[in-house]
Amino acid sequence: EAIYRFPLELVHGIPLMKPIINRWQEVEQFQARPDDLLIATYPKAGTTWMQEIVDLILQDGDLEKAMRAPSHIRFPFMEFVTPTLPSGVEVLTKMPSPRLIKTHLPYQLVPTSFWNQNCKVIYVARNAKDNAVSFYWFDKMNKAQPDPGTWESYVEAFLQGKVGWGSWFDHVIGWWEAKDKHRILYMLYEDIKEDPKREILKVMRFLGKELSEEVLEKVVHHTSFQAMKENPMTNYSTVPSFMFDRATSMFMRKGEVGDWVNHFTDSQSKAYDKVYNEKMRGTGLKFRSLI
Ligand code: PPS
Repeated sequence: EAIYRFPLELVHGIPLMKPIINRWQEVEQFQARPDDLLIATYPKAGTTWMQEIVDLILQDGDLEKAMRAPSHIRFPFMEFVTPTLPSGVEVLTKMPSPRLIKTHLPYQLVPTSFWNQNCKVIYVARNAKDNAVSFYWFDKMNKAQPDPGTWESYVEAFLQGKVGWGSWFDHVIGWWEAKDKHRILYMLYEDIKEDPKREILKVMRFLGKELSEEVLEKVVHHTSFQAMKENPMTNYSTVPSFMFDRATSMFMRKGEVGDWVNHFTDSQSKAYDKVYNEKMRGTGLKFRSLI
C-alpha cells in the first residue's frame, strides 16, 4: 500500500509525473487507429462526464451496457504509467477496436498518429478557477499526484503552469487553435451544465448517431452529477482507498460552476483575471464564471 506522490519533471517543457516521463517514448510512438475516439481534457475539466455522455450515446442510452466496467477501464488513460500496473499504452495496444481513449496531453504532445489517422477528438475545457479548485482537491486526495501544498501556494503554481500537464491557459488555447485543423469537437463544461440536452446533441451529431427523444432524455438523466455520483462505474469508488483518500475529498466532489468563489481571495481572483485577459485576447475563446 504505497503512497506514491510522484514528483513532476519536464518533457518538451511540460511537467508530468516522473513515471510517465520514464516511458515517454511509448506514448510518442503510440499507434492510433482510424476508428479511435479520443477524449482530451486538462485534468479535472469534465473528462469523466464526457466519457459517460459518449458511451451512453454509443450504447443508445442503455445504462446496463454503460455499466459494463468502470470509466477508467472503458476509456484507458493513454499516458498512464505507475511502477506496478500495466501502462495505458500497453492496455490500449491489446484493446479491440473501436477504442475509447482518454488523455490530458496538451495538443502538441498528442502522438502524431492520431492526426495521420484523422481520428475524432472531443476536447472539454472548464474555466480556470473552477478547474484549479477541482485539481487542488484531487491532488490532495489522489496519492499518486504530487502534494499540492497549501491553497495559497497551489493557486500560484497553477497560474504559472507548474502543475501536472502544464499551463491551463496554454492547454485550452492550444487545443482551441487546433480545432479546425482536425476532427475536433471543442466543448465547454459550463455549456453542458447550462443545457445538457443541447450539448449532448452536439456530441451525438459529431459521433454520427441518431437518437430518439426518449433515448436522449435517458442520456441526460444518467449523466447528471447526482446519477454519476451514485453510479459505482463512474464515481471511481473501485479505486482502492490507499490511492484515493476519500476522507479528504471525493472524485465526484461538487460538480458545480462557480465553486471557486469559496476558495479564491479577491487578490487571487484578480491575478487570474489579469493573466486570463492577456492570454485570451484575440483567440475568440471565452469562458464564463470568471468574474
Ligand atoms: S479527471 O481525473 O481529470 O479525469 O477528472 P475529470 O473527470 O476531468 O473532472 C472531475 C470533475 O468533474 C466533475 N464531474 C461532473 N460535473 C458535473 N456533472 C457531472 N455529471 C460530472 N461528473 C464529474 C467532478 O465532480 C469534478 O469536479 P469538482 O468541481 O471537483 O466536483
